[in-house]
Amino acid sequence: MKVLVTGGAGYIGSVCVEELLGTGHEVVVWDNLSEGHRSAVHPRAAFLQGDLADRDLLFRAALEHRPEAVIHFAGKALVPESMRDPSTYYRVNVSGGINLLDAMVQSGCRKIIFSSTCATYGIPEKVPMDESTPQKPINPYGHSKLVFEQILAWYAQIHGIIPTCLRYFNASGASAERGEHHRVETHLIPNVLLTALGQRPQVDIFGDKHATPDGTCIRDYIHVRDLASAHILALQRDKPGAFNVGTGNGHSVQQVVEAAKKVTQKNIPVRMQPARAGDPPALVAAANKLQRELGWKPVHSSLEEILTSAWCWHQTHPRGYSD
Ligand code: UFG
Repeated sequence: MKVLVTGGAGYIGSVCVEELLGTGHEVVVWDNLSEGHRSAVHPRAAFLQGDLADRDLLFRAALEHRPEAVIHFAGKALVPESMRDPSTYYRVNVSGGINLLDAMVQSGCRKIIFSSTCATYGIPEKVPMDESTPQKPINPYGHSKLVFEQILAWYAQIHGIIPTCLRYFNASGASAERGEHHRVETHLIPNVLLTALGQRPQVDIFGDKHATPDGTCIRDYIHVRDLASAHILALQRDKPGAFNVGTGNGHSVQQVVEAAKKVTQKNIPVRMQPARAGDPPALVAAANKLQRELGWKPVHSSLEEILTSAWCWHQTHPRGYSD
């Protein structure tokens, strides 16, 4: 298939492009490089630098390239930032997404795979949580993604768009060539590994009084390559749907730090900090639907393989991407 990948220069998008090309698809990447890196884009993918706010450019690109499917990664994705600056989250994740949908309608492209998130659920009553968990986000990031899921449902009904919403849990790990490099790093695993590399004095642990066994937050860490494979499978779908993408196993912040000490064989000092605003205590997926309906299976997502692959990437890319 010819696939337009928005955000294909970003962390998850660039690994997915690698997998798409490896499974014989043709890829056009659309990215404004605000978070992404030009050198993360696979050399066999076509690259267009553009912003989703640029409606005219987006329409021209869709008409020129005529993709058969869109995988929509581009967006703002940080919980704490969204608690300070909701406006950007709604402009990029909602308005930008509407421009993309309109360009799809105009160019006759119907399939879209959308990067949604478990943050659309808010604080679940029970974990693991399946797709029927009520969606009650507790931060603007999760809300912006939920609003776009709802917009997709209307475009499905009115314009015949076929959306697959993949609700990611915590993407982590690296492929051999592509890993996690944000210009301002806020994510747990890269912060832990950059501390092991000596680039940071310690890891801040945000909250040790959460309602979890050791008091630190629990997340379901999913290897970015397993996440990418869910997108490849979703390309085959021809009806709307929403799926959790996680492993069903949760790890606390403390457990991640301890596992990272073993993998890196380094001392990783920690410092307790107050809880971050908008952070749910525990998010763990029940992802049986994805396994049942698409035959997906996580094969790289043990915490050890996640940390080992990310550690390998950070060691070989100590400053991340060069741009
Ligand atoms: N944390 C720390 N110290 C850090 C960084 C994070 O203690 O230096 C904690 C956070 O408080 C949280 C957990 O580690 O409890 C994971 O935090 P991340 O920032 O790595 O990830 P989030 O769970 O906040 O968010 C990520 C993505 C979202 C996605 C979400 C799904 O950024 O886009 O996972 O849970 F929606």
